[in-house]
Amino acid sequence: MITTGCQEALSAGLRAICQAGDIVAVDSPCYHGTMQTLKGLGMKALEIPTDPLTGINLEALEMALEQWPVKVILLTPNCNNPLGYIMPDARKKRLLMLAQRYDVAIIEDDVYGDIAYSYPRPRTIKSFDDDGRVLLCSSFSKTLAPGLRIGWIAPGRYLERVLHMKYIGTGATATQPQFAIAEFIRHGHYMQHLRRMRIRYQQNRDLMTCWITQYFPAGTRVSQPRGGFMLWIELHEEFDTLRLNRCLENQGVQIAVGSIFSAAGKYRNCLRINYAQKLTADVERAVKQVGLTITQIMQSQSGP
Ligand SMILES: Cc1ncc(COP(=O)(O)O)c(C=O)c1O
Repeated sequence: MITTGCQEALSAGLRAICQAGDIVAVDSPCYHGTMQTLKGLGMKALEIPTDPLTGINLEALEMALEQWPVKVILLTPNCNNPLGYIMPDARKKRLLMLAQRYDVAIIEDDVYGDIAYSYPRPRTIKSFDDDGRVLLCSSFSKTLAPGLRIGWIAPGRYLERVLHMKYIGTGATATQPQFAIAEFIRHGHYMQHLRRMRIRYQQNRDLMTCWITQYFPAGTRVSQPRGGFMLWIELHEEFDTLRLNRCLENQGVQIAVGSIFSAAGKYRNCLRINYAQKLTADVERAVKQVGLTITQIMQSQSGP
């Protein structure tokens, strides 16, 4: 089913299965748009600890499923935003088995799956699904352009309910951008474009990581994304990125503070940096400025 971006796919999937007050287990840190959707719909996000290399912790998830009446597990297993990992296939299968055992649905956000740096692209949980409990959501926002607003959901056994939510939400999705994208794909441009983007984002990741290592204080920890275009950065546990953000606002530099990736306000010492754009000398200056401001704040905190 075609949707207005991945955001509508996620929201329609959630509204089809859950009501206000229901519990949704999410990988943590979790994409802030999802957090806002859950909050806006009055649903409760149950944050499951997540490994920066292998994804959602299955033991913690099992304990949560044992203890709470979880309705849905919502996660981004491929090229996760913000951590950048790809969950190994064996763990995807184990997750699916858990969902079957506890009879819960899985909403799988695959919006970055096509821009994994490895080829062929990673498998989805949906590709292992044999009883229709996975609702796969994605879009062309990260691969072609967010302004097209063309996404989709493959809702498995929830088709009728998702269709109803889509209908009472936005009705049909605009058809002209769909025709344009279909032509683009038909002529073979999409795969060619993906090949170029994969190389560019991987190069940007390496350069941005280099700048962070060079300009941020010693002890800074940086993620190693395997796709997408986000770096997750962890500073000293006492550090407050909200304070950093206030200082940077006056200098015209924008970061995403860690706490927006948690319903409980965790990750205050973390930030996310986007490296999708061309990494010019201006961007390097901005990264240097962030590093310098962090160092200044740290020095003022450890003052005499
Ligand atoms: C993980 C994730 N899911 C969904 C979305 C929303 O995608 P769209 O612009 O297609 O609605 C984003 C956008 O940033 C995202 O990062």
